[in-house]
Amino acid sequence: MRLDIITIFPRMFDCVFSESMMRIAREKGLIDLRVHDLRSWTGDKHRKVDDIPYGGGYGMVMKPEPFYKAVLVVGESDNLDDIRSRSRIILFTPRGRVLNQGLVEEFAREDRIIMLCGRYEGIDERVHEHIATDEVSIGDFVLSGGEVPAMVLTEAVIRLIPGVLGGEESLAEESFTEGLLEYPHYTRPAEFVGWRVPDVLLSGHHAEIAKWRRKKRLEATLLKRPDLLEKAKLSNQDKKLLEEIKTGVEKEAGFQDPGKLI
Ligand code: ADE
Repeated sequence: MRLDIITIFPRMFDCVFSESMMRIAREKGLIDLRVHDLRSWTGDKHRKVDDIPYGGGYGMVMKPEPFYKAVLVVGESDNLDDIRSRSRIILFTPRGRVLNQGLVEEFAREDRIIMLCGRYEGIDERVHEHIATDEVSIGDFVLSGGEVPAMVLTEAVIRLIPGVLGGEESLAEESFTEGLLEYPHYTRPAEFVGWRVPDVLLSGHHAEIAKWRRKKRLEATLLKRPDLLEKAKLSNQDKKLLEEIKTGVEKEAGFQDPGKLI
């Protein structure tokens, strides 16, 4: 997979991309990740990427030309439509589709992703309308620019590429695959300042451990992110376990009405 990031702050990426999983993915040749300075595509002595807004008003607006030229060079074609048809061109903006694991999986299936990082104050609307294929937000809050969102998306996508993580089985069990949160993890010692690891995990009984873990995933999702349960893939056994959890939790909380929790 080839990923290109276009930004006025290329050095912001140096540290993040040269450590840990991103470094390994690059070194193994599993991804071709390139960061470009948007100012390389300016034509003036001051390398200006912004200008005053038409119609007046506060602040500066990022110009369309440098983004346009950057995409043509990075996309290796002089036909923008051609590039748009074979790549995802993502513009980070709080007004975009909010990133979730489903969208990350969609991006991970692409051959080419081009990310455009603008400063939040404003990007010429023609970049949104004619250059980007996707507008993405990383949450309902405002950042100063698209650089941190580009790091977030890159990390989330790269770890799904086969061979990057090593243990692919860990992907299958983690949060959001299947739409459930993870079960709790423990390591040695079995007791630490009086806090004990649940007995079932010390029992060596694999079927019981698997059942306990599934129940804990369902319980965590029910209590912390009940919204996820609506879309989760649940077996009949899961539904039975959920009923057990609800009854148990309600009893503990002293609820009278068994339908109350959901
Ligand atoms: N730019 C500024 N805020 C943002 C956000 N929340 N997501 C993506 N890009 C942004």
